[in-house]
Amino acid sequence: MDKTRVSQQNQEEEQILNVLRVRAWNAFQGQKNVKEALQIAIKAAKKRKEPIEHILLYGPPGLGKTTLAHLVAKEMGSHIKITAGPALERSGDIAAILTNLEENDILFIDEIHRLNKVVEETLYPAMEDYALDIVVGKGPSARTLRLNLPRFTIIGATTRSGLLSSPLRDRFGVVHRLNYYGEPELERIITTAAETLKIAIHEGSAKELARRARGTPRIALKLLKRVRDFAQVKGSGSIDQNALDQAFEVLEVDARGLDKNDREYLLTILNKFSGGPVGIETLASSLSEDIGTIEDVVEPYLMQIGFVKRTSRGRVAVASAYKHFNMPFRKEMQERML
Ligand SMILES: Nc1ncnc2c1ncn2[C@@H]1O[C@H](COP(=O)(O)OP(=O)(O)OP(=O)(O)O)[C@@H](O)[C@H]1O
Ligand SMILES: [Mg+2]
Repeated sequence: MDKTRVSQQNQEEEQILNVLRVRAWNAFQGQKNVKEALQIAIKAAKKRKEPIEHILLYGPPGLGKTTLAHLVAKEMGSHIKITAGPALERSGDIAAILTNLEENDILFIDEIHRLNKVVEETLYPAMEDYALDIVVGKGPSARTLRLNLPRFTIIGATTRSGLLSSPLRDRFGVVHRLNYYGEPELERIITTAAETLKIAIHEGSAKELARRARGTPRIALKLLKRVRDFAQVKGSGSIDQNALDQAFEVLEVDARGLDKNDREYLLTILNKFSGGPVGIETLASSLSEDIGTIEDVVEPYLMQIGFVKRTSRGRVAVASAYKHFNMPFRKEMQERML
């Protein structure tokens, strides 16, 4: 596939995800603890007539961080401004945003682990004291001016909380990790989205899609969109097993919802390193992938479903992973290596 087609497809996919974006708390499935905690923080802030504390949301991609930020803004009746770590290059970039905020505004910073040091340090007094320190002049005559900012809230999102410096992390009053979703929740997300898209879906098909969505609403919705294409173009017009089979084959999604990257990761441990233990650095270079992506995007789900374990000596494939690929597993074999 050439690049323009890929980006067209991504754009289209983003548009659909936008149409399907949840706009009300009661439509936001699962994550009960996070939801409750956020709602309490909102209520408390409203009672005190103060902006809500700074919030940090972290967890694997596609679990609803951006959606939650919008929901918080809506419930607070606040405007939300959106930016991302890599977009803020100099302290002037963040200063310009901060000085344009109004009381109670929410500033959503996506990929907040990618802020550079200077920008991060500009944020410290802003988050703590609603102040901006500006250096005027140069050399010995330089002095710092303190500018007051309106009281606002930062909502930071990251897939890599481990990369956040502790001074930054400590300035968030509310910190929540989002977890993978269960199949019943994903099934509800899929059926609701199918209704919005006005496509009929068999109950069994919604279940099957949920099973293969890697615990992730974003993946569930993308699969649904692709399956819908097959149903409408080559199938009966409604989503059934036939449409699912065709879509999963093209998308290379297997029975457990694992994609190409997941399989490559597992097969490398199984074949090249005899099931492990193998250190993350070795594994990363063997896969030509960066350690961060493996640790934060690939591994969490595979650990959640019990296919790999992290041990002091490295990653180890578990019996269920062998079974998934129809490979023989002998317990003694692995015990000898641990
Ligand atoms: N709990 C949920 N209930 C219903 N739909 C959800 C839920 N969480 C996410 N979604 C839907 O899944 C899609 C992806 O969610 P969102 O963009 O908020 O994820 P994210 O965590 O910000 O992902 P990324 O890390 O890729 O930016 C959106 O269309 C959103 O409406
Ligand atoms: Mg997001």
